[in-house]
Amino acid sequence: MEERLITTNLTDEDRDYERTLRPRWLSEFVGQNQVKDSLGLFIEAAKGRGEALDHVLLSGPPGLGKTTLASIIASELGVGMKVTSGPALERAGDLAAILTNLQPGDVLFIDEIHRLNRSVEEILYPGMEDFELDIMIGKGPSARSIRLELPKFTLIGATTRSGLITSPLRDRFGVNCRLDYYQVEDLHRIVHRSARILNVVVDEGGSFEIGRRSRGTPRIANRLLKRVRDYAQVKGDGRIDREAAEVALAFLEVDEDGLDKLDRDILRTLIVKFSGAPVGLNTLAAALGEEPETIEEVYEPYLLQLGFLQRTPRGRVATERAYRHINVELVEPGIAGEGKLL
Ligand SMILES: Nc1ncnc2c1ncn2[C@@H]1O[C@H](COP(=O)(O)OP(=O)(O)OP(=O)(O)O)[C@@H](O)[C@H]1O
Ligand SMILES: [Mg+2]
Repeated sequence: MEERLITTNLTDEDRDYERTLRPRWLSEFVGQNQVKDSLGLFIEAAKGRGEALDHVLLSGPPGLGKTTLASIIASELGVGMKVTSGPALERAGDLAAILTNLQPGDVLFIDEIHRLNRSVEEILYPGMEDFELDIMIGKGPSARSIRLELPKFTLIGATTRSGLITSPLRDRFGVNCRLDYYQVEDLHRIVHRSARILNVVVDEGGSFEIGRRSRGTPRIANRLLKRVRDYAQVKGDGRIDREAAEVALAFLEVDEDGLDKLDRDILRTLIVKFSGAPVGLNTLAAALGEEPETIEEVYEPYLLQLGFLQRTPRGRVATERAYRHINVELVEPGIAGEGKLL
């Protein structure tokens, strides 16, 4: 399969690369100032009282730093962290085994917490609220339930789909942090920081250009840096200035707004193939040969944010801005999605 810059499927190489660049302390975490300030305060307060931090829910699109923040919280608290994910916890017993192995104050990180199975979620409720675990022993008439006391721990849940979290679960988080796409200025700082760690020479113009085309996402900024570095090394003298970044990014088919080939294909499909009529998610995904979840979770949020796409009750439509970007003219400019091709 063609290697993509925008993907949620990380290879082992990606993971190693990310680990090298992952900030370890709150002070190294760039941007998201509101989230950073409030977490910093809650961490300090919990440490001052010698108590476990309240449970934290981190939500936001992929690659914005949820996993990074979870491990920063554990480091700042000076506690251990156990990591698991919604889909990995198949049975209630899987979660019980993890909970009973926690040390007082530990962080339990559950990634993709919106994908927790119902029966697992239910044993999590008393665990989060009262630090108690009810487990059933035996089957049939002799079955009985026993209650175990758990150490006080901090649950950190991460999700790209906060809308799918049930309200009883959501209500049990004391701290709710939403990560938003980063400003270009922050991405520029992230590229600078990563370049320093990787010993890559990037000037202001170069890191700004990479930051600008990173879809507001640190993971993509780091990936673009890596690919631009390769390009500059082979085709130039290895230094990345604005011009080198521009040429390399054009080669990688990442355009001025950070859209990649599939983003443009989505817009072109809406505009040309469906002539601007509203298109349902499944139909759109089938036309592109992609999974609906990939379109919805990875691609659409950024296209919506940039104002290239609208979700209407009847389906997705491209906006006037998308027509201009793809270079297709509207018969009646200003009527997004209803224009006809000239
Ligand atoms: N604020 C930041 N400052 C510097 N680097 C960051 C920041 N946020 C994220 N990164 C970088 O981006 C990479 C991806 O972040 P992370 O894995 O935490 O994202 P995520 O939100 O957990 O994504 P996913 O939803 O796919 O699990 C990290 O390796 C880290 O290097
Ligand atoms: Mg993550």
